[in-house]
Amino acid sequence: MSSMFSAKPRGRPVDRLSLIHRHLHNRPIVEINTPFSTERISQPSEDIPWLPPTRASSEFLPPLQSRSIVKMSQQPEHPTLLIPGPIEFDDAVLQSMSHYSESHVGPAFVATFGETLSMLRKLFQTTNEKSQPFVISGSGTLGWDLVAANLVEPGDEVLVLHTGYFADSFADCFEVYKAKPTQLKAPIGDRPQLDEIEKVLKEKKYRAITVTHVDTSTGVLSEIKALSELVHRVSPDTLVVVDAVCSVGSEEIQFDNWNLDVVLTASQKGIGCPAGLSIMMVSDRAIERFKARKTPPGSYFASFKNWLPIMQSYEAKKPAYFATPSPQLIHALHTSLTQILSRPLEERFAAHKKVSQQVKDHVSKLGLKQLASKPENQANGMTAIYLPEGVTPPDVLPLLAKKGVVFAGGLHKQIAQRYIRFGHMGVSVVDDQRRGDIKKALDALDASIAEVKSS
Ligand SMILES: Cc1ncc(COP(=O)(O)O)c(C=O)c1O
Repeated sequence: MSSMFSAKPRGRPVDRLSLIHRHLHNRPIVEINTPFSTERISQPSEDIPWLPPTRASSEFLPPLQSRSIVKMSQQPEHPTLLIPGPIEFDDAVLQSMSHYSESHVGPAFVATFGETLSMLRKLFQTTNEKSQPFVISGSGTLGWDLVAANLVEPGDEVLVLHTGYFADSFADCFEVYKAKPTQLKAPIGDRPQLDEIEKVLKEKKYRAITVTHVDTSTGVLSEIKALSELVHRVSPDTLVVVDAVCSVGSEEIQFDNWNLDVVLTASQKGIGCPAGLSIMMVSDRAIERFKARKTPPGSYFASFKNWLPIMQSYEAKKPAYFATPSPQLIHALHTSLTQILSRPLEERFAAHKKVSQQVKDHVSKLGLKQLASKPENQANGMTAIYLPEGVTPPDVLPLLAKKGVVFAGGLHKQIAQRYIRFGHMGVSVVDDQRRGDIKKALDALDASIAEVKSS
């Protein structure tokens, strides 16, 4: 064991787990500490990794017999995961990960990877051959590094539209690469308005503007089409970058028609594939900008210089190597994309809208308010719900867990103690009739709120 790890006692596994599972037990919520937060610096490093995976969910849940759990097809019984990602996975997606080992440069795997990239073009709705899909091992956060390392240069100005926690983190990422982010913030639950954005865009030259399509901390939906039209009219050289980690697969995105330069996402949310893949679509204009850089990209692993030829080769079904991909995850992504594209995309987005409206109506009938205050800025894949006065997430989340439903606690620093988040994406929505996840969650919410009010 290296001295870095053994310098101080690491504490019991249960204490370390509590950092992650804070919303499942009754102690006060600890300060949020995530890998993409600067607060991580204040945590002793020995508190972060080495979690014994088999203990994770059972530690803080009641005994299995006392939970109300529906058996989901071939999967072991488990509480229904309705946080805003990772989401519940389809059996076929999970089963495709138990693929035997194969060479990552062998013809079979190269064909699967190539098809996966081509399917992403359909999901993002681009027919421009010069748009470039990327699938790289990592998570959504890697998408921020890819943008900051390749598409802006040190000293470049970037306008970051803020609708919650994730804009702060994207701005932090730009600073690491010595770019100059300016955040335009809206009040909690709202989004910056187009006239404000226009005014700011006219003040200086921005290399890129970023917008979080759905901010997972607030459930606020941003309008991408109108924003992109505005940027192209007022500041045509500014690249339009969309953080769509919590929207691809649950919200409509038209890459070509909306004139977008980057849409970045991850595998574990609306796409319904286990976590571990950073997924991105980049316009030909952005690729040209990359090629015209005056300075080399500020990262080795995240450099387009290294990944561009690899992605192009895979899509042309030719073997190539820069860093080893995860064949099993690519198989899972191939399966989930095949499922998604087997039905018209409009149907999928309509199903998410319908279920979202049902959830939001139910929440209002319960007398609860959402963080996203206006109907037009409410996401369709999740709902962030204010709790009754004086009630905190640790009061409610264990009650939901007892009923076999896992929601998430608050994530917006200023109000984290006052709300919970309900993710309704992917199979829980499109396979709602068969699975019954949404009804189960709404029943559990009704009962838990009633219990907490009467206690
Ligand atoms: C909007 C948004 N952006 C970025 C991220 C970071 O993605 P990841 O946790 O996969 O690194 C998340 C994660 O939830 C997110 O919701």
